[in-house]
Amino acid sequence: MIIVNSIEELFEQTANFNGSVGFVPTMGALHEGHLSLIRQAKSNNDFVVVSIFVNPTQFLEGEDLDAYPRKEEADKKICQLAGVDVLFMPNKEMMYEADELSITAPAKRGFILEGAKRPGHFDGMLQVVMKLLNLIAYHKPSIFRAYFGKKDAQQLALITQMVKNYFINVEIVPCAIVRSADGLALSSRNAYLSKEERVRALSLSRSLRKATELVMQKELKVKAIESVMREVLNEVDIEYIALVNRQFQAIDEVEIGNTIILVAARVGHTRLIDNLWI
Ligand code: PAJ
Repeated sequence: MIIVNSIEELFEQTANFNGSVGFVPTMGALHEGHLSLIRQAKSNNDFVVVSIFVNPTQFLEGEDLDAYPRKEEADKKICQLAGVDVLFMPNKEMMYEADELSITAPAKRGFILEGAKRPGHFDGMLQVVMKLLNLIAYHKPSIFRAYFGKKDAQQLALITQMVKNYFINVEIVPCAIVRSADGLALSSRNAYLSKEERVRALSLSRSLRKATELVMQKELKVKAIESVMREVLNEVDIEYIALVNRQFQAIDEVEIGNTIILVAARVGHTRLIDNLWI
């Protein structure tokens, strides 16, 4: 594995790629969720690039940019063992300059749910993903695929839309959510949870399982499902419970095969999100 810390070195490496390229962008503190994306990229492509960059523009004022877990050495080992070809670890000076043009998330889909709770977050996220896609595909690989987790469902939807709206030549590959055995969706932010908070955090995935049970019992009404989920989530601070279709439009009834159930909540100081595609 080659570790590159500059754009020049990155281009030197990617110039040698002759075949399909799979790219996994991350913010590091890698866990099994990230690893599942890397494994998928590895099994489908000739070359795999992973980036680790805690992107400042997607953190709002007062969010956890400084506290965000950084585990460089462990991350390098994980990537090496997973067979990553190039690990790109840029810094913010090489990624940004002052007074940049910006990308704005779409007015409807980009400013509900996560976009409403974290206004500006998706603008910064889309901006860095656009930069990273352009950087990794600078030498125009014959096939270019980028891997994203369904864990961040709205992020995935907006990236898919950006690729469509800006005619970017990349195949976006959505990847399943990886959970720990007790159901908690893996997240770098789980590291913030105390033992007691981690137990309470389990109610997020429990509420989603409860919703599935209801759907299996033919309860399809969104209001009814939301209110049962609210009860399951009574020990955390709910930010939102939402049922939307795959286009992130509000729905009144679950349509099997086209619905995403999302939940966001605070457990102590930690903000967690989870979702389920049905
Ligand atoms: P990060 O939170 O590090 O996540 C990197 C990728 O891993 C994302 O596509 C995310 O959806 C996926 N992922 C995280 N936890 C997962 C889980 N439990 N199961 C499956 N996939 C999981 O998302 C970001 O970084 C950033 O916004 C980024 C896209 C890198 C832009 O800065």
